[in-house]
Amino acid sequence: MKKILNFEQIDNLVDELSEKILKDYKFKSIALIGDLGVGKTYISKRICKNLGVKGNVKSPTFTYLLEYDLGDRKVVHFDLYRLSNIDELYEIGYEDYIEDGNIFLIEWANNVPEAIPENTLYFSLEHNDETSRIVSVYEIKDGEVIYVDINNYNFN
Ligand SMILES: Nc1ncnc2c1ncn2[C@@H]1O[C@H](COP(=O)(O)OP(=O)(O)OP(=O)(O)O)[C@@H](O)[C@H]1O
Ligand SMILES: [Mg+2]
Repeated sequence: MKKILNFEQIDNLVDELSEKILKDYKFKSIALIGDLGVGKTYISKRICKNLGVKGNVKSPTFTYLLEYDLGDRKVVHFDLYRLSNIDELYEIGYEDYIEDGNIFLIEWANNVPEAIPENTLYFSLEHNDETSRIVSVYEIKDGEVIYVDINNYNFN
C-alpha cells in the first residue's frame, strides 16, 4: 500500500517508528529502499537522532557503515550503494554486527536481499515532487511482501 506523504508527514512517521524501536518493539532492522536523493539518509539521520545519537550523523556512503554507541546497544548505519558483491559485506565483518540488540539502518538493502535479517521493516520511498514522496512500509515473510497500514501503523 503506497501513500503520498509530504516531508512533515514523513518526519512524523519516522518519529513514531523510532518510538517503537526505543520501546523494544520487534523491529531492530530498518531497510531503506529507493532511488538516489529520495531521502534514505535523511530518514536514517532522523532515526539516529531520535534514538539518542549525539553529535553529527554522517552518511556512510564511502565506508559502507558507521556505528554509534548508545551505551547499552549500538546503531549501525549501512549504506550498501557501492557494494559490488556480498563477499565485500562479509569482509567488513557484517555477520559480527548482526547481533541481537543492535539496531540496523540499511540503505540500499535491495542490493543484497539475501543478507538482510529477518524481522526487518522495509521503508520504501519513490520520488514524487520537491516536498513529498510516495511511501510504503512493509515486511517480507517467507518471500511474501506484507504491507503495513501507514494510517494506523499497527504491527502485529
Ligand atoms: N523527508 C524529508 N524531509 C526533508 N528533506 C528531505 C526529506 N527527504 C529527502 N530530503 C532532502 O532530499 C535530499 C536528498 O536526500 P538523501 O540524501 O537523504 O537521499 P538518499 O536517498 O540518501 O540518496 P543517496 O541514495 O544518493 O544517498 C536531502 O538534501 C534532504 O534534505
Ligand atoms: Mg544516502
